[in-house]
Formats: sequence, C-alpha cells, structure tokens
Amino acid sequence: MTSLLGKQALNAGSLQQRRAPISSRRSVSIKAVAEAPPAGTVNVERNANFAKLRAGYLFPEIARRRKAHQDSNPNAQIISLGIGDTTEPLPPSIANAMAEAAKSLATREGYSGYGAEQGQGPLREGLAAHFYPNGLRSADEIFVSDGSKCDIARMQMMFGSNPTVAVQDPSYPVYVDSSVMMGMTGEFKEGSGYDGVNYMLCRPENEFFPDLSKVPRTDLIFFCSPNNPTGAAATRAQLTQLVDFARKNGSIIVYDAAYSLYISNPECPRTIYEIPATHTSTRDAHTPQHPHGSLLLQPAGLKEMEQTMSLYEESATILHTALR
Ligand SMILES: Cc1ncc(COP(=O)(O)O)c(C=O)c1O
Repeated sequence: MTSLLGKQALNAGSLQQRRAPISSRRSVSIKAVAEAPPAGTVNVERNANFAKLRAGYLFPEIARRRKAHQDSNPNAQIISLGIGDTTEPLPPSIANAMAEAAKSLATREGYSGYGAEQGQGPLREGLAAHFYPNGLRSADEIFVSDGSKCDIARMQMMFGSNPTVAVQDPSYPVYVDSSVMMGMTGEFKEGSGYDGVNYMLCRPENEFFPDLSKVPRTDLIFFCSPNNPTGAAATRAQLTQLVDFARKNGSIIVYDAAYSLYISNPECPRTIYEIPATHTSTRDAHTPQHPHGSLLLQPAGLKEMEQTMSLYEESATILHTALR
C-alpha cells in the first residue's frame, strides 16, 4: 500500500523532474514506502455496520430532552419512553434461592462445575410446565440462556447477513439493531428508517396489528406480544393470521413474549404455540422463543443452536417458528 508519505515523495519527485532543464535530467528511482503505524496503534477495522446504528444518538437525545423538561417543570411526573430500567425489588423467595445456591457453590459437596449447556433439567421442566402448559412444548425444546438481547444477536449470527427482515413499528429496538449490526440492512434514512427493513405499521387505526396484506414477504418476522412499547397484545385471531402469513411465505417468526405474564384476556394467547398451526412445522427449522430467561427451540433448532455456539446461560424470550 502506498502511504501518504510515499505519495507525497512521488509527487515532489515528478514536479522536480518537470522543472529541471532537459540537459540536467537524470533518472531518479523513487520508492513508495509503506508507513508502519506507530507501535501500539490498533490497526484493525471495526465492523462497518456498527456505524449505521442510531440508538447511540436517540437515547441520549431522549435523556437530554427529558432532563431539560424536568428542569424547567420540576413537578412534572414524566413517563419516560427512553431506555427503561426495573424498579421493584426481587421477591425474597428468588433472592434467597440465589443466595443459597451461591453459598452452596462455596462448599465441596455443593460445588457443581459447569452446568448443562442447555440449562438445568429441573429448570427446563419448570419453564415448560409454567409457560407451555398442557404439553404445548416440552422441556427438551427449551434452552436456558443469558438474555434475549444476546439470544437475538446469536440467532442473527446463525442466519447471517442475507435474510430479509420485518419488524413491528414501533417495537423493541433490539430486533432492528441486531439486523443492522449483522449487515442485513442498508443505511438509516430520516423518516423511513433503515433500507432493507420492512416496518409493519402498528397504530391505533389498525388496533396495533399490521395489515399483512401490505407486508411483503421476508425471511424473518420479529413479533413482540405484548409489544414494547405499545403494550398491545395480539388476539388469537390476529396471531392465526400472522402464522398463516408466515406459513404461506415459508418465513420464520421470532416471537418475543417477554411480557406475556401481563396478559389476562383469554382471547390473547400468552404463547404463539396456542395457535395450532405452529405445532405442525415439518422441516428444518427451528427456534421458538419464550419469556424472560430462556429460548424455546424445536429439536432441529436446538441442535443447530448447540452447534453454532456452545455456551448459553439464562434469561430471554425468543419464539421462533419454522413454518414450512
Ligand atoms: C420486548 C423485550 N424483549 C426482551 C427484553 C429483555 O431483554 P433481556 O432478556 O436481554 O434482558 C426486553 C427488555 O427490555 C424487552 O422489552
């Protein structure tokens, strides 16, 4: 590679040659010198897709405006729609169980080494029984992981950069951001979002459920119910439409049910597996998701996930249906 210094030397040499009288011309050999970076300088390019991300601008901006408003209206009770945080203490039963488990690891009898990669058997049994009652899914389809953001990124790694993607609009930003980081999208455009992402409008006018007749086919459909940030939970009829749509197109639904425990209306399923067609997936796929703390995988998906990455621990919700 010709360095800047090399190019300058080359140009300077050519100039001198042009100015010198013909009689005094002599041949000059000029070498382009590759400039070594100063020792200690990192000389590795970052994934260029990261530069497309917008969240780094959006959330600080929300925080800035919120603070400005609060400063000028000290009594305002603001509901922030920026980055959320949990506010309630852990139930004592959970905190105590974790403390006991940690203490037990400090004893020779209680120390257990690495756990099972897929998560501990009793935990998976409990998750299956609680979130997928009446045999909707079985324990061997559940993968206990360390969070849905990580799970989504891992799944995106599994899919690679080629798939097309649809998301609810508005929705949890992680689906889009992980697609951006994987290189599935083009640049961000003010007003229309990322090139290559199909934004399925969810507005009061359509009861926060997309008009699927206007949604083009995509490989992946991220769907969150109850949705963050609208809180809208899809009805059985709406989820049936979504599943039919995905089956027709041979798409995969990545279903995020993180807030499913808030659902009390029996017309709104807590899991997409209440839709009968999701039980009949036949070929190759895949990866259903489930609430906070684990990933639900059908056997083929479980095997694939295990092959793709060997370390998973706890906490997430990715429902994923291979619907061919
Ligand atoms: C829609 C949705 N899914 C999942 C999560 C949980 O993410 P994680 O399991 O990575 O903490 C959140 C948390 O904000 C969320 O809003």
